[in-house]
Amino acid sequence: MSGAPTAAPAPWHMLTAAVAESRVDAAGYRRLVVYAPAVAQACGPGQFVMLRSPEWGMLLLSRPFDVYRTDPQAGTFEILFKVKGEGTQRLASLRAGDDIHVLGPLGKPLQLPVDGRGVILVSRGAGVSPMVRIAQECAAQGVPVRAIVSAASRERLVGVDDLTALGASVQPVTDDDPDAPSPDRILDDWAAGGGYGAVYVCGSRRLARAAKRACQAHGLSGYVFVESHMACGFGICHGCAVPVRPAQDAPEAGKPVYALACVQGPAMPIEEAVVD
Ligand SMILES: Cc1cc2nc3c(=O)[nH]c(=O)nc-3n(C[C@H](O)[C@H](O)[C@H](O)COP(=O)(O)OP(=O)(O)OC[C@H]3O[C@@H](n4cnc5c(N)ncnc54)[C@H](O)[C@@H]3O)c2cc1C
Ligand code: FES
Repeated sequence: MSGAPTAAPAPWHMLTAAVAESRVDAAGYRRLVVYAPAVAQACGPGQFVMLRSPEWGMLLLSRPFDVYRTDPQAGTFEILFKVKGEGTQRLASLRAGDDIHVLGPLGKPLQLPVDGRGVILVSRGAGVSPMVRIAQECAAQGVPVRAIVSAASRERLVGVDDLTALGASVQPVTDDDPDAPSPDRILDDWAAGGGYGAVYVCGSRRLARAAKRACQAHGLSGYVFVESHMACGFGICHGCAVPVRPAQDAPEAGKPVYALACVQGPAMPIEEAVVD
């Protein structure tokens, strides 16, 4: 299927790396650049890493983060995150030169459309993170990109400049703009215009539903990054199981079926993902 996750995941590494940079960006998100050449070189679009500070103490489990972008030449990858609880608070306190435990890249890498058609990226908040990595791959392969970047307010928009610098045509949409067109309308216009093979969405169930409607109406492939708590990241603990809807003609059709977000995702086919 065009734009689908590939069948064989790339090899992953478990190592202690060094923080190359740690900063807060204008929208208040934290950015962490990690020097880990093996991970930066192996990481495909749509993949994630599990991170853990050596000072984790009683917080035993690593935390999962989508890779925002890679710089294989410099040997670095970057993540963008919001402080939620103790794990992200501790990651935010790391400084350049500190050690960090890295497991990755994990999850299925995405394969972009190979027929010359472009991709549409739809994200909200930190959900822009895997979109920048996809746009990076599109730029390398000459695949055209359009992106909807959504946020509560203009000040909370993140990733727009990086997507634009990678050649994407970006439509920001904020809740505080009464004149903003709805994501449904934008997606409908873009998809109806032809030229796009796949839609990727992350960070909002509302946007995932809009993307699903556009995919169904215009015959596009769609992939949604699913939300799940993860303990191991590589298929052992089964803590990340998410309900999925098998295809109508699959033997499991109509039965309750679960997929492991860490190994079968995190980007899942939109017709199978439960987004309502
Ligand atoms: C594949 C994957 C990729 C992710 N990528 C990013 C990213 O690029 N940037 C980013 O900011 N966040 C991302 N997350 C979410 C991130 O992993 C959590 O915010 C983080 O684990 C919280 O850890 P904590 O110790 O700070 O919070 P905790 O103390 O563990 O939890 C704080 C609060 O956040 C909730 N929470 C924790 N983990 C998740 C989760 N996985 N999904 C939904 N709610 C959760 C908890 O229920 C709780 O309410 C990703 C999650 C997954 C599964
Ligand atoms: S996180 Fe352990 S099986 Fe997915």
